[in-house]
Amino acid sequence: MKVLVIGGGAREHALCRSLSLDPDVTALHCAPGNAGIAEVAEAHPVDALDGAAVADLAAALGADLVVVGPEAPLVAGVADAVRSRGIPAFGPSAEAARLEGSKAFAKSVMASANVPTARSYVCATPEEVDAALDAFGAPYVVKDDGLAAGKGVVVTDDLAAARSHALDCMGVPPMPSRQWGKVVIEEFLDGPEVSLFAVTDGETVVPLQPAQDFKRALDGDEGPNTGGMGAYSPLPWADPKLVDEVLRTVLQPTVDELRRRGTPFSGLLYAGLAITSRGVRVIEFNARFGDPETQVVLARLKTPLAGLLHAAATGTLASFPPLRWSDGAAVTVVVASHNYPGTPRMGDAIEGLAEADAVEGAYVLHAGTARAESGAVVSAGGRVLSVTATGTDIAEARGRAYESVSHIHLDGAHHRTDIAARLS
Ligand code: AMP
Ligand code: GLY
Repeated sequence: MKVLVIGGGAREHALCRSLSLDPDVTALHCAPGNAGIAEVAEAHPVDALDGAAVADLAAALGADLVVVGPEAPLVAGVADAVRSRGIPAFGPSAEAARLEGSKAFAKSVMASANVPTARSYVCATPEEVDAALDAFGAPYVVKDDGLAAGKGVVVTDDLAAARSHALDCMGVPPMPSRQWGKVVIEEFLDGPEVSLFAVTDGETVVPLQPAQDFKRALDGDEGPNTGGMGAYSPLPWADPKLVDEVLRTVLQPTVDELRRRGTPFSGLLYAGLAITSRGVRVIEFNARFGDPETQVVLARLKTPLAGLLHAAATGTLASFPPLRWSDGAAVTVVVASHNYPGTPRMGDAIEGLAEADAVEGAYVLHAGTARAESGAVVSAGGRVLSVTATGTDIAEARGRAYESVSHIHLDGAHHRTDIAARLS
């Protein structure tokens, strides 16, 4: 099978690594990739957001499967463009990707499908914002309706800060009122968060194993929200029945509802969940693999990946054999550029990659990296590396991941030191 992966983050490096280990994969390509991906796949300098260019590349390569990693190309219709050429694509249509692209749309699907989520108001005017903030009280949860790379959400006890984020999201001021965007204001959910992924062909839903992500920039869950600073899997503290329950109450009803609406969802359905005292609630849906959770989930998946993704892309998941998992654990630690999640500093040399890779059970997945003309690997994004390790249990995997991180040198970089330290 010839496979083309779209994207260039650590998630795509993890996908490419797993695909490169799959004996059914005869050729592996990526666009645009990064310095690490280029070591396991042939990288092509094609814009991931340009559906026609991606479809042309897939056709020229004779690809049997295109795997679209990030949300922006999905929302832009890249999977549709590939499918329109008769090439199987793993990833939802632009219509179905609205499950991630619009929080208001996701809320409406959940309401129709009876999926448990936070109560919410979709607000379009400052008056509606004030009424919603007043109705829920602190802590306030204010979400940009559109895509914001994990940074559009503010959770705060400060009413003025909540109100000002809401107005920012809506564009009030400077935009004229007829152009104001929407903002979602919702009830605060407490309890640990879980990321659960499912592979689906629009009908059959195959859940993967759960992981936990660390969204805040700083140790102790302090600082601003980020795309994710680390993750681990499995979750020793979670109820063993959790996956079955979420399949029954969240994943299957959502997939069924989207099919009923005439916009079937195929690809990866990501449920971000809060395990509250009143039960499981959906915090958000994403329409693609999570980053950095994919790094730890795929580290433990023993079933070859290409066949699974191809079955989802071709509507044949119902006859796919049960997934096989390693009994061990995996931990990933993200190394981020100076100032991330603000505007990151880029172009700094990264040293120690070979030493980091040499740690037993550990490997370095690249996110924002590029190869300079000198041949040196340099930083080229906010999240730079996702250092991943497996072990017999979380403690061993964690120790190996941090030992590996200790070999890396990148000026001004930062990482959390408490990934998987306290487990829930
Ligand atoms: P989202 O982009 O919707 O995943 O939100 C990013 C992060 O904000 C989540 O991972 C949570 O940590 C936090 N968050 C979002 N919604 C809520 C909520 N209703 N209650 C508490 N925290 C939330
Ligand atoms: N790690 C969170 C996300 O992928 O959205």
